[in-house]
Amino acid sequence: MKRRTELRVSKIESGTVIDHIESGRAISILLELDLHKEYPNSVLSMIVNVPSKSKGVKDILKIEGIKISREDMQQIVRISPNVTINFIKDFEIVRKGKAREMLEDGL
Ligand code: CTP
Repeated sequence: MKRRTELRVSKIESGTVIDHIESGRAISILLELDLHKEYPNSVLSMIVNVPSKSKGVKDILKIEGIKISREDMQQIVRISPNVTINFIKDFEIVRKGKAREMLEDGL
């Protein structure tokens, strides 16, 4: 079988990557938070059923150009408690952590 050599969705230059979303819940996050309306000028990418190192499959949501708010994070952990948030700037991850822990830390 040919090995996949390219990313399915490119890395983003800036914004937020919500990773380790429970499989099937990215669409719930998108719709319940109305992300496409809240951030109408941001390109949103949703990847579903990505093979995951730790646990079967997962979903990923990428929100370009936007650092999501604390309120967004609170809603997201209600939908999928174990998500990881990555804040991206100049293609690099400038902050990464479990959303729950970031919220507890008051970030
Ligand atoms: N990412 C991105 N754009 C960037 C940097 C990272 O979209 N400029 C995405 C990656 O595609 C990945 C997530 O952010 O979905 C986390 O990136 P990274 O920490 O490099 O990946 P892993 O090591 O696989 O993450 P983890 O150990 O948390 O599973």
